[in-house]
Amino acid sequence: MKLLCESASELEHLVAMAKPFAKEGKVADYIPALSKVDGELLSVSLFYPDGCSYTAGDGNLILTLQSISKVITLALALMDRGEDFVFERVGQEPTGDPFNSIAKLETINPSKPLNPMINAGALAITSMIRGQDGAERIDRILHFIHELTGNPGLSYNKKVALSEYDTSHLNRALCYFMKQSGIINEDVEELMELYSKQCAIEMDCLSLAKMGCVFANDGKDPASGHRLIPSDIARICKTFMVTCGMYNASGEFAIKVGIPAKSGVSGGIMGSIPGKCGIGIFGAALDEKGNSIAGIRLLEMMSRKYSLSMF
Ligand code: DON
Repeated sequence: MKLLCESASELEHLVAMAKPFAKEGKVADYIPALSKVDGELLSVSLFYPDGCSYTAGDGNLILTLQSISKVITLALALMDRGEDFVFERVGQEPTGDPFNSIAKLETINPSKPLNPMINAGALAITSMIRGQDGAERIDRILHFIHELTGNPGLSYNKKVALSEYDTSHLNRALCYFMKQSGIINEDVEELMELYSKQCAIEMDCLSLAKMGCVFANDGKDPASGHRLIPSDIARICKTFMVTCGMYNASGEFAIKVGIPAKSGVSGGIMGSIPGKCGIGIFGAALDEKGNSIAGIRLLEMMSRKYSLSMF
């Protein structure tokens, strides 16, 4: 087994160097419940296919997935509906716009969101998750998360879900726009409820790293060797993580870090280094593009020190 770092203390040292950058960022407050987190905390876990793991920083912080959940629902929607159905309705190109932008929905015909990692695309993807009702659909998403993390106790944070549901007027606007153009067919309030719950699924960095490791391991559960995601779908998800995973900072991130990764406004980042390991990071202070400011610094340092870049 090839370890990326010789010991947890080396990782602690990198966390200590990255942590001060949190002061330059700001915790997300557009969803009121998210603003209550201490932005200066930073923690990281690495999880390897052989089950070996390292955790460093501020202990076992629990985070909500927010946009990281978009990778999980993309995988599930592709398994539920197949590539043709999904990509007839959601595109495969980066936008260069902020994650919640509505602009391209109007300018690009036929109002098809450009990719599954921006909010418009992610909402369309969530509407593709099969199930008789909202309860069955969130259960299916949670069951998939339980398989990916090996942790059947994980659920969503009700306060955070409700807080987003009550305040996400812009996401509602995106949904109504897409409903008008036939990308979404269901009741918008039901979809908003499901999406808010999906974003509020919470876990620690180690579970996040385990999910990253399944994608790194081409969709197989590292512990059992059991296939959880078809390898083609794991490949598609990792590719979107490279091209769109850090929103309109994906290009710079590819140059400076060079690994598939997905961020969320809670300050989480899930990394997935093909064939090597999964990474989970939590640092709630964000940069102006909505990515964890200290988390990105930490990944830059890790990438330089351990030559992580795929490129
Ligand atoms: O749609 C939203 O507003 C959030 N629940 C998720 C957005 C998000 O995490 C964007 N990430 N950087």
